[in-house]
Amino acid sequence: MESQKLSFSRHHSYEIFLGSEILPELVGKLSRMGFHRRTLVVTNDVVAKWYLEPLTAELKKRNFEVQSIILPSGEAEKNLQNANRIYSQMIAFDIDRGSPLITLGGGVIGDLGGFVASTFKRGIPYIQFPTTLMAMVDASVGGKVAVNLPEGKNLVGSFYQPWLVGMDLSTLKTLPLAQLAYGLVECVKHAVLADPPYFKFIMKSRSEIKNKDIGVLQRLVRRSIHIKKAIVEEDEFEKGKRALLNMGNTFGHALEVLGEYRRFHHGEAVGLGILFALGMAKELGILKEDYSEAINEFLNDFDLPRKMGKEFHPNDIFEAMLRDKKRNQEEIRLVLPVALGQAEIKAVPASELKELLNAVIMNLY
Ligand code: NAD
Ligand code: GLY
Repeated sequence: MESQKLSFSRHHSYEIFLGSEILPELVGKLSRMGFHRRTLVVTNDVVAKWYLEPLTAELKKRNFEVQSIILPSGEAEKNLQNANRIYSQMIAFDIDRGSPLITLGGGVIGDLGGFVASTFKRGIPYIQFPTTLMAMVDASVGGKVAVNLPEGKNLVGSFYQPWLVGMDLSTLKTLPLAQLAYGLVECVKHAVLADPPYFKFIMKSRSEIKNKDIGVLQRLVRRSIHIKKAIVEEDEFEKGKRALLNMGNTFGHALEVLGEYRRFHHGEAVGLGILFALGMAKELGILKEDYSEAINEFLNDFDLPRKMGKEFHPNDIFEAMLRDKKRNQEEIRLVLPVALGQAEIKAVPASELKELLNAVIMNLY
């Protein structure tokens, strides 16, 4: 089992462990962290079928009293209603500030469970056991936790770091290929932001990735954590460079909201968001190296959408982008690529965005 340590000035440090078939070791680690012997596991129906019983058994072996809450799966479940359900169960189970909440699942469960942990009794410890590539390479790293509102994605949330993250790569064996591809989009995002050799590695390892070669998946997870860790340790609360990690998100979130969190998966929306960012950078004349073709080819190879569908009207996209968080008065901050491995944050006046949007999204119909 390997690990990477994340350290934040105002908070404690914590470790991210990764390896294959490591559940007993992970539970061993958490059982030595001095928590009260009572824990609630938050998961969903799909993940519970495979992984809840083994986790519960390991926890019980170490004298934890365990309850679980099994939510339906899907982005539309990352909401305040489910946060309320979890709060109610925690109160009934008498969870106190020394009892950890454990999230077992993808980014939806991690974001929702982390949000609940950050707010319940002004904050209780939480442990993340991510089971999707998306959650391993991105969502479980860096402490952004949130729920969606009908008006916008992640509009209610906080920065709240977990006490431990345990990534058992063997859980990816049951992950459908489409879901693996969604996570891979985040790896590509990290690579195009900061690491051209990583981009080349992803492109040349596509068949191993499709075959879920654990060694290759572990390299992806390790590399992405490394890139994200460097950024979030420097800028935990997104005052500056952490915003780079939002490449493709402002546009992608707009598509997710307009599709009522069902039409596009987050990974699909971010893939389209990267194409949008490239188009926008071209329109604004800041793109020195255009790698749109490579991105298009990658998306095509993994059956990810390269077009968004005619039902999304520029005005609706514009309004949804304005409701996203990355906005400052009348400007919207977009992360725009400059070259492979280089991007910048550009404040675009809302009026200018409206004009440019029409031109850029023509290529996405
Ligand atoms: P998800 O949590 O919906 O999981 C995807 C699907 O895979 C679900 O149907 C789930 O039931 C299933 N699943 C999970 N693990 C499985 C396994 N091992 N085997 C079989 N099926 C499995 O989606 P996701 O892609 O993991 O995460 C997307 C969410 O993450 C979005 O809400 C996004 O906003 C959030 N996110 C957050 C951050 C952050 O920094 N906090 C970063 C990136 C994404
Ligand atoms: N997913 C963007 C971030 O963690 O900042």
